[in-house]
Amino acid sequence: MIQQHSIHGETTNLLHLGEENNDRYMNSVVPPIFQTSLFTSSTYEEFAETINHGGDSYCYTRYGNPNFDILCRKMADLEQGDEALLTSSGVSAISIAIMAQIQIGDHIIAISNLYGPTRSLLDYLEDKMNVQVTYVTGEHLYEFEEAMQPNTRLVVLESPASVTFCVQDLRGISNLCRSRGVVTVIDNSYSSPIFQKPLKLGIDVVVHSATKYLSGHSDTIGGVIVANKPHMPKIRKQHKIAGSSPAPFEAWLILRGMRTLPIRMKEHSKCALAVASFLEAHPKVRSVNYPGLPSFRQHALAKSQMSGFSSLFSFEIDAPKERMAPFFNSLRLIKIGLSWGGYESICVPSLVSFGKGIDEEQFAKIGITHQLVRLHVGLENADDLMEDLSQALQQV
Ligand SMILES: Cc1ncc(COP(=O)(O)O)c(C=O)c1O
Repeated sequence: MIQQHSIHGETTNLLHLGEENNDRYMNSVVPPIFQTSLFTSSTYEEFAETINHGGDSYCYTRYGNPNFDILCRKMADLEQGDEALLTSSGVSAISIAIMAQIQIGDHIIAISNLYGPTRSLLDYLEDKMNVQVTYVTGEHLYEFEEAMQPNTRLVVLESPASVTFCVQDLRGISNLCRSRGVVTVIDNSYSSPIFQKPLKLGIDVVVHSATKYLSGHSDTIGGVIVANKPHMPKIRKQHKIAGSSPAPFEAWLILRGMRTLPIRMKEHSKCALAVASFLEAHPKVRSVNYPGLPSFRQHALAKSQMSGFSSLFSFEIDAPKERMAPFFNSLRLIKIGLSWGGYESICVPSLVSFGKGIDEEQFAKIGITHQLVRLHVGLENADDLMEDLSQALQQV
């Protein structure tokens, strides 16, 4: 479905866009869950029309469902793109967006601090499709320029990046790539469309883990891809091949979460800045990697392309690695867990989260050590979180 941008403000659109025809749903305020795999046609002609032209009719939920369309309309509007597609997870959104662009023998430039499964997909493409990948830190524009080859097809970004939260110059990179016909894909899960709109900065394709801030309640899994019209045919084709639509209920849950996204993001941001500032001043904390802190080395760049900062960051504790378990084990309010973006605060030992058998020296070179803790600041009172961190830091 091609989106028309509404004249209303962003939050108003988020609440109402895509739901104008609720007379079809007996004027229910909340759209019902179309928990069906199948939509039937009354006549031969209607069936042929649905199959050949789509339009307002649905035939099979893997190809489309009203719950998906309402959500995609809002996401396209939030990201200021033409169209959006819903997928069954953030990882499926990433793999569809990348696979849609790639042919055997292509070259990809990617940042080295990518979310682990994105990096695994690139390893897989190197193995199976003779694709060549050049990794760059992403902190300097010249790295991308130097890595370009005649067969470079795609640049894969995540800004701010997982674990170290380094930022890439999205305007500079998209200008460079456009001048060479190279497609740019970014994972925008960290910022959500509330704090960063990469398409406006010239990036071609945006992906999200809807599992995180978009849904915001740690009760579902999903992904979204947003792009302008020229990129969508390839993405739609790949999505169809992958068969990666979620169940209607998952779309409904994500949509319910999204209605409060702007106010949740504001609160997450406020609380995260308070906690990050507290940690920065703590004698047992060596450093804090939060793009929202004025002391963050790329704060100026981050500010120039983001309108706010979310609530995921990392900090390094000044202690021997043997003292890290007592720190984690004495947290009372903050839980230990992999995900983020929900209402609850979560932390994770960064190095441990990569699993067994990793090259610790290589990780240390990019600042990922046993002492690095990734923290997602939820919607609890900031004072309670600081108290919890304070008593746990006493244990190191
Ligand atoms: C930055 C980032 N992108 C994508 C994903 C994957 O999302 P999902 O778990 O919805 O597949 C995650 C999950 O942790 C993530 O942290």
